[in-house]
Amino acid sequence: MIRVSAPYITDDDIKAVVDVLHSGMLAFGRVGEEFERELARYLGVKHAVAVCNGTAALYLSMRALGVGPGDEVVVPDFTFFATASTVLHAGATPVLVDIEPDTYTIDVSQLERVVSDRTKAIVPVHLYGHPADLDGVVSIARERNIYVVEDCAQALGAEFRGRKVGGLGYVAAFSFYPTKNITTGEGGAVTTDVDYTADLVKLLRSHGQKSRYYHVELGWNMRMTDIGAALGLSQLKRVEEMIERRRKLARVYLEELNTLRQVRLPVEKPWARHTYNLFTIWVEDSGGARDRLADFLRKNGVETAIHYPTPLHRQPVLTGVRKARECCRVSDEASKHVLSLPLHPGLREEDVLYVSKLIKSFFRYM
Ligand SMILES: Cc1ncc(COP(=O)(O)O)c(C=O)c1O
Repeated sequence: MIRVSAPYITDDDIKAVVDVLHSGMLAFGRVGEEFERELARYLGVKHAVAVCNGTAALYLSMRALGVGPGDEVVVPDFTFFATASTVLHAGATPVLVDIEPDTYTIDVSQLERVVSDRTKAIVPVHLYGHPADLDGVVSIARERNIYVVEDCAQALGAEFRGRKVGGLGYVAAFSFYPTKNITTGEGGAVTTDVDYTADLVKLLRSHGQKSRYYHVELGWNMRMTDIGAALGLSQLKRVEEMIERRRKLARVYLEELNTLRQVRLPVEKPWARHTYNLFTIWVEDSGGARDRLADFLRKNGVETAIHYPTPLHRQPVLTGVRKARECCRVSDEASKHVLSLPLHPGLREEDVLYVSKLIKSFFRYM
C-alpha cells in the first residue's frame, strides 16, 4: 500500500534514540534542551518549549495567555478538532469563521465582523502546510489588542513573506506527530519571543514547579521525553531536505494533474512557502466522485485520507461554540470535496507518477 503519510526515519535517527536509551537519562535531560535551542534557532524565535504533543502546545498557549471563562477565541471552522477543543478546555468559547476556498485557511474578511470586546485571541491555522494570510489577521489583532496564536501543527518550515511561521504572532503551537514535517513520536512545542510567556509555559508543562517540589502554578505533566527530543533533534538536521523533497514530489503531482478539469490542485500564494505536509486536492463533484476516487485508489494499493470530513460546527461534542454569521459555507463544501493524496519524503517519484496515472484513468473512464 502506498501510504498517505509516513515518518521518514534514518539510521542516524535510530542511533540518536538508542544513544539516549543508553545514557539512562530519558526525561528532563540535556537533549530536550538542545532540541528546544535548535528548534528556536531554525525558526528564528527566542524561545521554543517542547511539550508532549501539539494539543498540549495549543492548550498551554491558551493558559499562558490567560484565556478563560468569558473569553472568545476565533478559530477557522475547517481544522483538526484540537484547535477548538483546547479553547473549550481553557474555559473559553471558540468562535468559528469560514475558510478561503483556495488555501483552506482562515477567511480574513470575516474577522472584522466577528471580533468583539470579548475576543482574546485569533488562531490562524496554517492548514496542510500553507500559511494563513497573516497580514490580515495581525492587523486586526493589533488594532483590537488581540493575541495571535499560530497553529503551526502542519506547517514547520512554512514561510509567510519570507519569514518562518511560528514567530509571526504572539505565540505558536507545533505538533511533531509522526505525520508532521518532523516527528518526535508524539510531541509538540510552544514558540514565542516573549520571555514571560515562555517561562509560564515551562512552569505549566511541569506541575508549576519553580524549584524541585515547590509549586507556584497549578500545572500538569505535559513534558516531552528525551527519547522524543533526540529523534526530533536528529530530524531537525534534515528538515529542509525533507521539505524540499515534499515540494519536489508536489511539483510532480501538479504537473501530472494540471490538465484535469475535475480536480482543483493546491495553490501556493506568491507570498507563501508551502511545505505540503498534506497534498490535498478538491474533487469536483458529480455524484460522489471524491469517495469513488478514494475507493478506486484504495483498490489499486493507494491510501488517501479526508482532512476533514466533518467541519467543527458539525462536531457533536462542540456544542458550546459560536459561529460567524457568514460561516460556514466554504468549509461545508470543502468537507465534501477534499482528498489528501500520498505525500511524504520517503515516497518515490514513480509512486507519485503511479498515483497520478490512476487518477487520470479514473476520470477518463468515469
Ligand atoms: C491543525 C492541527 N492542530 C493541532 C493538532 C494537534 O496536534 P497533536 O496531534 O500533536 O496533539 C493537529 C494534529 O494533527 C493539527 O493538525
